Amino acid sequence: MKILVTGGAGFIGSNLVDGLVKLGHKVCVIDNLSTGKKAYLNPKAKFYKADICSPAIDKIFKKEKFDYVFHLAAQIDVRKSVAEPEFDNKVNAMGSYRVFKNSGLNKVKKVIFISTGGALYGDCLKPATEETLIQPVSPYAIHKYAAERYLAMYGELAGLKHVILRLANVYGPRQYSDGECGVIGIFTYNIAKSRSSVLYGDGSKTRDFVYVADAVAACLKAMASGARGVFNIGNSKEISMLQIINAIKKAAGKKFVYKKEPDRPGEVQRSVLNSAKAGKVLGWRAKTKLEQGIKNTIAWAMENTNK
Ligand SMILES: NC(=O)c1ccc[n+]([C@@H]2O[C@H](COP(=O)([O-])OP(=O)(O)OC[C@H]3O[C@@H](n4cnc5c(N)ncnc54)[C@H](O)[C@@H]3O)[C@@H](O)[C@H]2O)c1
Repeated sequence: MKILVTGGAGFIGSNLVDGLVKLGHKVCVIDNLSTGKKAYLNPKAKFYKADICSPAIDKIFKKEKFDYVFHLAAQIDVRKSVAEPEFDNKVNAMGSYRVFKNSGLNKVKKVIFISTGGALYGDCLKPATEETLIQPVSPYAIHKYAAERYLAMYGELAGLKHVILRLANVYGPRQYSDGECGVIGIFTYNIAKSRSSVLYGDGSKTRDFVYVADAVAACLKAMASGARGVFNIGNSKEISMLQIINAIKKAAGKKFVYKKEPDRPGEVQRSVLNSAKAGKVLGWRAKTKLEQGIKNTIAWAMENTNK
């Protein structure tokens, strides 16, 4: 099959491309390398350096005639979305619309859109199901939801089959982070470099963490199955920031130095997903234990951040 992965030079996208190449598919990547890295690109994948907001991608779709499209390219920084909502809208809503429109026009068999569970449901007092009320508290979440609705609309208009995967907080190798996204990526990077970290809030904030290989497995199941619709993809466990710090300290066998700062706008306090539907319909469940995932992530950070 010929498969497009937008954002295929990024953290999750590049892991997905590796998985698809391993299965023998022909893979193309569209990525503007704004946060993605050339070094993560699988050499067997065909790379187009292009922006999903640009008409240049219309030509790529026409030329390549993809069978399947995984759409991951996105502006993923919640704080940036608060500071620059127009830019976030341009990429995450309208850029996604362009990807879906082209998929419909070029008769793609199925689109798998990577959305966010962590941000869409707002604060969760119990694990959110796909039916839980959508309560976005950041422009990032608002625009990811807008993209979901564009895909649903295009599904109706163009008969475009699709699956929406609402991922929990993904972590693992290649979430290299000298930046602002992915708390485990940032903390493991800092500990590998023996640098101090910043803990926003008092450490009680919770998230549902899913290891990247498990997220990739969910993507592959979504492609292979005849299923359509929306699926939460998470571990269904609420883990606090302090628990994460302790797990990282233990796995690294090093001191974890951090200072506390006040919480930032746009962040939910408690987030956890119920992924029972993905278990039942896609036959997917998270397999990697947090301790093992963090161990792998630290090993990767030690090897790659000190080069
Ligand atoms: N990391 C998480 O915890 C998480 C959780 C839920 C959902 N997601 C979603 O997963 C997807 C991938 O996230 P990630 O964590 O791998 O982030 P990432 O920043 O590593 O990947 C995003 C990729 O998209 C590319 N990109 C950004 N804007 C683009 C544009 N306008 N045109 C073309 N390419 C562009 C970047 O260069 C990068 O390679 C995103 O859609 C994100 O919303 C991530």
